[in-house]
Amino acid sequence: MNVVLGVGGGIAAYKSAELARALMERGMRVQVVMTQAAREFITPLTFASLTGRKVITGLFSSAGPEETLSSAIEHIAVAQDNEILVIAPATADLLARLAHGLADDFLTTLYLAFTGRVVLAPAMNNNMWMHPATQDNLAVLRKRGHVIVEPDEGLLACGANGPGRLAEPDKIAGVIVDLGAASSFHARDLEGETVLITAGPTQEPLDPVRFISNRSSGKMGYALADAAAERGAQVILVSGPVQLSEPQGARVVHVRTAHEMHDAVMAHLSEAGIIVKAAAVADYHLAQVPRNKIKKTAMRMSMDLDPTPDILAELGQKKGDRLLIGFAAETENLIESARQKLRSKNCDMVVANLVNQEATGFESDENEVVLVLSTGETIPLSRAPKREIADRIFDQVLKLRLALHAAQ
Ligand code: CTP
Repeated sequence: MNVVLGVGGGIAAYKSAELARALMERGMRVQVVMTQAAREFITPLTFASLTGRKVITGLFSSAGPEETLSSAIEHIAVAQDNEILVIAPATADLLARLAHGLADDFLTTLYLAFTGRVVLAPAMNNNMWMHPATQDNLAVLRKRGHVIVEPDEGLLACGANGPGRLAEPDKIAGVIVDLGAASSFHARDLEGETVLITAGPTQEPLDPVRFISNRSSGKMGYALADAAAERGAQVILVSGPVQLSEPQGARVVHVRTAHEMHDAVMAHLSEAGIIVKAAAVADYHLAQVPRNKIKKTAMRMSMDLDPTPDILAELGQKKGDRLLIGFAAETENLIESARQKLRSKNCDMVVANLVNQEATGFESDENEVVLVLSTGETIPLSRAPKREIADRIFDQVLKLRLALHAAQ
């Protein structure tokens, strides 16, 4: 999810740095915009270092006319590129300017051009907070549907005691995560991409009525297909047998066995620029499946199973400059095993999850994963609906591509 963090000029501006970090940790892309007054309290360099992005500080460039033009339309581009605008700290002055639609700097101009959700986290002296002018402005902003994260009570920077302290960064980040999950708006930042996704389990027949399979529900892969299609990608979803309805806008290829999945993936490889292997492919199969049902006897029985083709490993060999994202379902040593898989299968990212936890395992609607990247980074994504996790994975995939291109 893409978020603009607007920083107003108040003593609480230093806490916005913590907020920027909290948002990044939750897998969001953060574009910071600072008001002139904010720069009196904290430097743009702090935010640029935390977010890895240039901080926007002014509406008008002091340079030549072309630059003035490009910065004059930048607020429109930023407005279109982001789903949530959070302003923290929102000072009394900023609240007043937003309520009245004044547009005399980048942040207030962006606000008018912005069509996504707005979150305001005010911070100020307690008397300023309780003043009818501020409360009237808040009422106007609430009526517009903006989310106000109320300030905490306590000792204020000015020495007074009362409501006015900026809410804790983790709390503000939580509000943004919830809003993002509920929001149906997503940037179309995968337009022009073809994403090949595998999902669900495979079934390896033992005879005409029995098979070996696993507990994968396909929900994570389908959520990824949903997210990619909504963000404008062409989606090819190679799906094992699942009980889910087809994601809108995706081309679905139904397969049953690991071999069928292998063949379908390889047949579509040339079209794809991003490959996400969320399927839980069976590792073994019975090479000679009997034509008739195996009869029960009183004897112990055993079967010789052969390994299935390792689709991910083969993709790792053939991927060229495609981005390859694998999944690692583990019950122990999560990060280490994921790193090992990343290296051995030549992936760009491995999405690692502990599958022996009920709330975030195979059949669950939620997930909690760690992204292990080829850059050496590990990014934990805290527990969230699988659809939200899917978006955060694609946010990081796009970021990773930029980082890999920059390194070339
Ligand atoms: N995978 C694959 N082909 C297989 C087995 C797995 O493409 N025959 C892919 C899965 O889609 C997933 C990744 O490999 O992206 C990891 O699957 P997992 O079962 O966690 O790992 P394995 O490689 O099977 O290793 P192990 O079971 O020993 O952990």
